[in-house]
Amino acid sequence: MSSKRTQELIQSDKDHLIHPFNVIGQTTGIVIEKAHGIYLVDTEGKKYMDMSGQLVCSNLGHRRPELMDAIRLAIENIDYQHIFFGHSHVYAIELADKLAKLTPGDLNHFFFTSGGSESTDSAVKITRLYWGNMGMAGKYKIVSMYNSYHGVSGMSTYVSGLGRGALQNPFGPASPGYIRVPSHYAYRSMFGDVPDTGRRSTDFLEQIIQAEGPESIAAFIAEPVMGPGGSIDPPTDWWPTVREICTKYDILLIVDEVMTGFCRTGKMFAQEHWGIQGDLMTMAKGLTGAVMPMGGVAICDKVYEGLKGKWFRHGFTYTGHPVSCAVSSAALDVYVKDKVAENAAKVGKHIKRRLIDEFLPLPCIGDIGGLGLHLGIELVNDKLSKAPLDVEVQNELKRKMLDAGIFIRIGEGWLGNRIFVTPPCVITMEEANKALDIMKPLFAAIKPGQ
Ligand SMILES: Cc1ncc(COP(=O)(O)O)c(C=O)c1O
Repeated sequence: MSSKRTQELIQSDKDHLIHPFNVIGQTTGIVIEKAHGIYLVDTEGKKYMDMSGQLVCSNLGHRRPELMDAIRLAIENIDYQHIFFGHSHVYAIELADKLAKLTPGDLNHFFFTSGGSESTDSAVKITRLYWGNMGMAGKYKIVSMYNSYHGVSGMSTYVSGLGRGALQNPFGPASPGYIRVPSHYAYRSMFGDVPDTGRRSTDFLEQIIQAEGPESIAAFIAEPVMGPGGSIDPPTDWWPTVREICTKYDILLIVDEVMTGFCRTGKMFAQEHWGIQGDLMTMAKGLTGAVMPMGGVAICDKVYEGLKGKWFRHGFTYTGHPVSCAVSSAALDVYVKDKVAENAAKVGKHIKRRLIDEFLPLPCIGDIGGLGLHLGIELVNDKLSKAPLDVEVQNELKRKMLDAGIFIRIGEGWLGNRIFVTPPCVITMEEANKALDIMKPLFAAIKPGQ
């Protein structure tokens, strides 16, 4: 039985607060009040290991001193200054300069937003504006993948391909100009039970481009590792092939690094794994270590040249918010100084090995995917039919994990039956082993289909 205070908070939550991606009026019954490192503490004083890194965004853990200091210092100097109409401030300039040195290749120009969805919308607008400036306004269609996620604001809603129309259908008529193609997700391939889903998906992409007419397509957008689609990494040659296709047909490539960026997959940016570079790259989440809301679009030299000197009628009140910029700058310093990408690669490899060796043989687990500390577990009722694990059993598993002090994100993926293992990128080997040791018997206790 929880305390009177907790009960009152939960009741007030139910009465007044609407939670994203949730049944309205329901809560987990847990109220978090403090966080530190990879730990969260609720109003009852109970401690949880944050094995989801919140929404795969708390890459540096919680309440990192360098980030707290950066916020304090910035807010004492400037609480707010916009950067519309050519106005500027030191924090935005410093951040853009730092990012230019860290982002892949010639991604040297930055437009800032308040988060990932706004970054997708902005990237879509920028590609269309670019082609318009080039005298090719007919190049406006955006191609993305089923099971992808790029956000839920205006345009990003139509770019996203998650959950069988669930993000679009309840919200009115579809917007034209968006095309989705099957992804490389091999475990539940849209091409059926065939090998080589990766090659089939790139072949399909090329055929769609030819069928629609490349002169009508502005950009292809994809996540390096599919995120809310369930932490699904592509086959090795998938990204190089996508890059080749986009170049061949003169289509801009938007790499959505909102979730994968800032050390999550074991590199500063995930596209580095395959030696490719997007023409645009979206980012958010780890940019500030999730301490402040902020996102951005990185733009390559070629696209920038096509925009330079022309009007850009787009921007948000919080574009380049000084406090967000200051904390981002501090986060970038920590990522580099503490070799956070190396840690994510090392601990991620170890966790994935343990998941494959010790968890995958369990009857309720059908697939393990992902890269670095961006890992996913697919829960099934039956390995042969691949039927997803019953929702009630998943809910019970989530409850048991919370009871055991493991904060996890469950219900991801095409059929809502994947779990994220995406702790802060600073998690130690000992902490990772401790969490897996707690989790394993909870998975082993599931008797699917009974
Ligand atoms: C790959 C990707 N793009 C875009 C978004 C949207 O970001 P936000 O929730 O900050 O709008 C997300 C969020 O999870 C994401 O994972």
